[in-house]
Amino acid sequence: MGEKRVYIAALLLFLLLTVSSSHAHKQNKKLYKPCKNLVLFFHNVLYNGHNAANATAAIVGAPEWGNRTLLAKKFHFGDVVVFDDPITLDNKFHSPPVGRAQGQYMYDTQNTYTAWLAFSFVLNSTDYHGTINFIGADPIMIKARDISVVGGTGDFFMHRGVATIMTDAYEEDEVYFRLRVDIKFYECW
Ligand SMILES: *[C@@H]1O[C@H](CO)[C@@H](O)[C@H](O)[C@H]1NC(C)=O
Ligand SMILES: *[C@@H]1O[C@H](CO)[C@@H](O)[C@H](O)[C@H]1NC(C)=O
Ligand SMILES: *[C@@H]1O[C@H](CO)[C@@H](O)[C@H](O)[C@H]1NC(C)=O
Repeated sequence: MGEKRVYIAALLLFLLLTVSSSHAHKQNKKLYKPCKNLVLFFHNVLYNGHNAANATAAIVGAPEWGNRTLLAKKFHFGDVVVFDDPITLDNKFHSPPVGRAQGQYMYDTQNTYTAWLAFSFVLNSTDYHGTINFIGADPIMIKARDISVVGGTGDFFMHRGVATIMTDAYEEDEVYFRLRVDIKFYECW
C-alpha cells in the first residue's frame, strides 16, 4: 500500500516536472532579447616580413608546405595566427584604443576561407573594465557570422551571448583587416 502511494507520488512529480520544464523552455524563447548590446571594432595587422614595427599579429604555426612569413596556399589551411589587436569604438585605425583583442585564429578548411576563433577582448577604458571571451567558427566569406560569447569578467562578470562578426575592411595583400563585432549579451548579471 505505502509503496504504491510513493510510486504514484513519484510519477505525478515526474509529470509535473516534465510539463513545467517544457513550459519554461517555451517562455525562454519568448524572452529572447539581449540584456546588453555593444559594438566594437578591432584592427589586425599581420606580419609580412617587412612590417615588424607595425604588426599586431604573427603566423606562429604553418603546415609543412608553408612558412610563418606568408599565409599558406590552399586557403591558408593549417596556419595559426596569434594577435594582440587594438580595439576601437569606431572604424578608424588611429582612434584611441579602448582595449586589446588578444588570442588566436586558425584557418581550418581546405576548399574555402574559414577560421576558428578563440580570443578575449581585454577592455580598460573609462567605459569598460573587464574581459569578454569569444569562441567559434568563422566562415570568413559570409557577410555576418555569429560566434559564441562564452563568458566574461569585471563589468562582464557571468555574461554570455552571441557576437556577430563582419569584415569591415580587408586589404588584398592580406596584411590588414578590420572586424566589426556586434555583441549581444543574453545573460547579464
Ligand atoms: C614563404 O612562402 C612564400 C610562398 O608562399 C615565399 O614566397 C617566401 O619566400 C617564403 N618565405 C620564407 C622566409 O621562406
Ligand atoms: C587600465 O588603465 C589604467 C589607466 O591607464 C592603468 O593605470 C591600469 O594599469 C590599466 N589596467 C590594466 C589591467 O591594464
Ligand atoms: C600600420 O599598418 C596599418 C595597416 O596596414 C596602416 O594603416 C598604418 O598606417 C600603419 N602604420 C604605420 C606607422 O606604418
